[in-house]
Amino acid sequence: MDKTVVNQLRVSSQDIRSKQHVTSNQTASLTTLDNRVHLGSLSGKVLLFGGVYSNLQALEQLKRIAEEQGIPPGNCICTGDLVGYCAQPEEVVQLFKIWGVKSILGNVEIQLRDGAEDCGCDFRKGSRCDGFSQMWFPYAQSKLSKSSLEYIATLPNHIDFRYAGKDITVVHGDYFNVSEFVYKSTDWQIKQKNFDATGADVIIAGHCGLPFHQEKEEKTWINPGVIGMPANDGSPNVWYAVLDDSMETFKFKHHQMEYNYKLANARMQTDFLPQEYARTLITGIWDNTEILPPYESGLQGFGIQL
Ligand SMILES: [Fe+2]
Repeated sequence: MDKTVVNQLRVSSQDIRSKQHVTSNQTASLTTLDNRVHLGSLSGKVLLFGGVYSNLQALEQLKRIAEEQGIPPGNCICTGDLVGYCAQPEEVVQLFKIWGVKSILGNVEIQLRDGAEDCGCDFRKGSRCDGFSQMWFPYAQSKLSKSSLEYIATLPNHIDFRYAGKDITVVHGDYFNVSEFVYKSTDWQIKQKNFDATGADVIIAGHCGLPFHQEKEEKTWINPGVIGMPANDGSPNVWYAVLDDSMETFKFKHHQMEYNYKLANARMQTDFLPQEYARTLITGIWDNTEILPPYESGLQGFGIQL
């Protein structure tokens, strides 16, 4: 990235942090110049998830879990990509509105908001993922109502909140690039630049599709995973995470979620969606590992290494 842009981001984040001290006890949101929203201080359980990918059945199940556990919508935060590979983008966005949970923009929402012609995932041209996106992205565009696009346009790029004594920032890919794939095997230096730029103690990220966490020198990177597609581990179950401050310290846990994946698969039985993704909902195995580094690619079908 251009150094000037990075420096501008740093100045902006310092400015934001100074505003956070002023507003940390307020519950009202503060929209900042780089489209960051600060939620103030949160307490109680916080539900983290990402990548709904137009999978309505997974979102409905997660809503049930939040309600059973008494987690209010204001404590439920999505890392973006509400819309994606599956069959019900319009229903997913409308359920988000009704439920009232928080989300940042994923690359898919940015492209939809801007009326772009592709999903913005940065797939290599001519790759299998690139070919599939030429089916599911126009399908999603054709299904979304004006009201849903207006809702998407209200989402921020990043969310900040304070929790159990930690400053937390939610990003999609990483802070600098919404389409950056950051994995467990990704060099820590790349992650560290995000902590430096945001001032956060904890970064919650999405986009790459795999749950993991990594801690170093009191900084923690957490990817809660995605609920719209399995994690390439050979199971149809999907992943989310919960923050817990009940012991008055910062704690988190990854969770697997069972849901009605057979119905999600049945909804995808149309010529307009890639059937490879419909199969993945059942097998838990991705069609390809084009986007994965060797470490994560080698774990295909062997379960998740958290
Ligand atoms: Fe994404």
